[in-house]
Amino acid sequence: MCGSTPNVSEACGGAMIIGATGFIGQFVAEASLDSGRPTYLLVQSGQASPSKASIIKSLQDKGAIIIYGSIEDQDLLENILKENKIEVVISAIGGGRISDQLILVDAIKAVGTVKRFLPSEFGHDIDRADPVEPALSFYHSKRKVRRYVEAAGIPYTYICCNSIAAWPYHDNTHPADVLPPLDRCYIYGDGNVKAYFVAGSDIGKFTMKTIDDARTLNKCVHFRPPSNLLNMNELASLWEKKIERELPRVTISEDDLLAAAKDMRIPESIVAALTHDIFIRGCQINYSMDNPNDVDVCSLYPDTPFRTIDDCFNDFVVKSVEVKKVVEEKMSKDAIIGPNSKPEALIITA
Ligand SMILES: NC(=O)c1ccc[n+]([C@@H]2O[C@H](COP(=O)([O-])OP(=O)(O)OC[C@H]3O[C@@H](n4cnc5c(N)ncnc54)[C@H](OP(=O)(O)O)[C@@H]3O)[C@@H](O)[C@H]2O)c1
Repeated sequence: MCGSTPNVSEACGGAMIIGATGFIGQFVAEASLDSGRPTYLLVQSGQASPSKASIIKSLQDKGAIIIYGSIEDQDLLENILKENKIEVVISAIGGGRISDQLILVDAIKAVGTVKRFLPSEFGHDIDRADPVEPALSFYHSKRKVRRYVEAAGIPYTYICCNSIAAWPYHDNTHPADVLPPLDRCYIYGDGNVKAYFVAGSDIGKFTMKTIDDARTLNKCVHFRPPSNLLNMNELASLWEKKIERELPRVTISEDDLLAAAKDMRIPESIVAALTHDIFIRGCQINYSMDNPNDVDVCSLYPDTPFRTIDDCFNDFVVKSVEVKKVVEEKMSKDAIIGPNSKPEALIITA
């Protein structure tokens, strides 16, 4: 499958992914392996938690080559790039380590053989969006990486995939790991501002399509699937339809979001500031794609469908039934042997 994209400009070489044990990186690593591309994962050494160890094992079982090390080690990065003839580097490093990518850029520049670099973006167009603090400082770090990549003359693609297909909790960086609400729906503002919700697997799949596509060279690729453009009221109605009951709707006002942003609790306040930017200011929809560097992923690959948000919510229904079963089993056990701990009811562990 490697190199099956139209307008392919490059041969299929190795891809190195940084952050593959993380939320977004895992989707990208899986898609890279699915595409048949030799996939090298830079994984931090040291004792991995059981969940991280199982992610690494599962990616390794699918053919990933694990290399232990840190993004801060420029010599190591250069060696990996040279020895494995890496042609594509994708970073999905987490929010707190964005600036460490400057070292990675230095390594890519020094080696000079990487044909495409995708820095850790995977959100909004950070040159356009202008969120309140502390998200603005976070964007400053990402913008600095963009300018550094461009100044170094490294071929790049910026992935602007908008929101993950899940309930957009305003205090959780990884909402797809949590079930949509089962007690009440918090609605931001009047609930009428739309956003794009993209399945994690599609973020991975379309990211991999861009990496050897000449049309995405030095471009910003926007994920705007029309089927997944919804506002909070529509999202709540969709979820209520799935669980076959209505939930009370509680408004979280613009002031509430701004207050949560002002708290300066990291990362929650960054998420609150981004939630404000998305659902109050409309940062995903308040611009047209008129910059020559903009490309729309749906126009690039019109024959490849996106998973609909409707379909993604079906997964949550299945998971909520599983969680309910676990909770009920635990409650009946507690009734016999006495209560111990509260079930972590809404966290998806399956
Ligand atoms: N669109 C959305 O809805 C959305 C949601 C979340 C994130 N994002 C964006 O996606 C990107 C990735 O964020 P994330 O939340 O997925 O990150 P994350 O879950 O925090 O994962 C970060 C990854 O980076 C690795 N890492 C950390 N320090 C490292 C080092 N020194 N050397 C090598 N690897 C290191 C971590 O490894 P360990 O496991 O060993 O720590 C982990 O695999 C960010 O740009 C973020 O803004 C977008």
